[in-house]
Amino acid sequence: MNTATQLRAALADSLTEDGTLTDPEWSSAARAVPRELFTGSYFLAVVGSVPTTYRPVREGEPAWLEGVYSDETLITQLDGRIRPDDVTEGTVPGSPSSSSTLPSLVLRMWHQLGAEVGYRVLEIGTGTGYSTALGAHRLGDANLTSIEYDPVVGGAAAAALKVAGFAPRLIIGDGLRGDPDGGQYDRLIATCSVRYIPLPWLHQVRPGGKILVTLSGWSYANALALLDVTGPGQARGRFLPGYTSFMIARPHDRPPRPTLALLPGDERPSQIDPAKLDNWTGGWVAQLAAPSAERMGTGAEQILWDVSTGSQARTVPDANGGWSVVQRGPVRLWDRVERAVQRWQDAGEPHQEEFGITVSAAGQRVWLGTEDGPGWDLPI
Ligand SMILES: C[S@@+](CC[C@H](N)C(=O)[O-])C[C@H]1O[C@@H](n2cnc3c(N)ncnc32)[C@H](O)[C@@H]1O
Repeated sequence: MNTATQLRAALADSLTEDGTLTDPEWSSAARAVPRELFTGSYFLAVVGSVPTTYRPVREGEPAWLEGVYSDETLITQLDGRIRPDDVTEGTVPGSPSSSSTLPSLVLRMWHQLGAEVGYRVLEIGTGTGYSTALGAHRLGDANLTSIEYDPVVGGAAAAALKVAGFAPRLIIGDGLRGDPDGGQYDRLIATCSVRYIPLPWLHQVRPGGKILVTLSGWSYANALALLDVTGPGQARGRFLPGYTSFMIARPHDRPPRPTLALLPGDERPSQIDPAKLDNWTGGWVAQLAAPSAERMGTGAEQILWDVSTGSQARTVPDANGGWSVVQRGPVRLWDRVERAVQRWQDAGEPHQEEFGITVSAAGQRVWLGTEDGPGWDLPI
């Protein structure tokens, strides 16, 4: 059986071979930080379960250590309270609320952030503390502060960091409010996603500094952005290549909703193929256009539902090989989505890296191509 040291070295080797680890300093962090100390027991999703259920993999059981050193995200908490060791038998349903992000993504993001030795860095979303430990290994304890919302999760991370020999500054609190005592930082990295850039971050990071964060929303679409802080309260950035997603920051999560009841409304032909919303960028463009809606359904049969106004839109295939849409409520959700998706199609359906974002106290706008191109205001 392989030991943790052997498995860690094998993972680092494979991340070097696939081009993730290009910097010797991050490579040595990956080879040094014992991920098993941070994950402990974890959940694995039961393949094919609908809704998804989770099976606990307990520390020490066969295949536990191999799982720790797979390049996978390991769920460590469901619904803001259920930990793997709480489940004594069988599987449980739930929504992931904390995890250890897959090592390749964490390492790639540290690299993308451009965090050099000597920089002060603020991390939002300590989680298990694994990414914090990698950061502390590279930057030194004194230059890293990490904020975790959930006190139980944060407490476990603090204990694991101590055992692993790291002592960054740790805060339990809402990272969207920034670090009240931290002064200015050179870099901010978030391992939870946000619907818009929290305004405190724009004052917490010095002009010339950078923010790396995933923008997400209530329709489950995600996009990783790297922003340059251009002045107090101002930033501008681009979206990055790839397909990065993170669980949404708890204060930005969608409101609780009752079971969906589809209601009658006005029907017309749809001008776009609803399946475009299943495309990584197409679904994100739709979310930008209708940020208060939750998306359900798939393919030709999409459902958008804005709980706060009761607005709904649903598409179905029609008899002519096209699609029709039924809409009701004050927000014509499909009208907005259709216009946005058509603009994206007119531009050749580019990936997110063709989009940028401008942020100021006056508002936050995601744009396509150039700053004066088609754009959508984020829901601040
Ligand atoms: C994907 S996990 C973080 C993974 C972690 N960096 C690691 O490597 O293990 C996201 C974490 O963000 C935390 N979180 C959610 N909202 C937050 C907020 N407003 N402030 C700070 N942390 C938050 C969650 O509780 C969760 O632990």
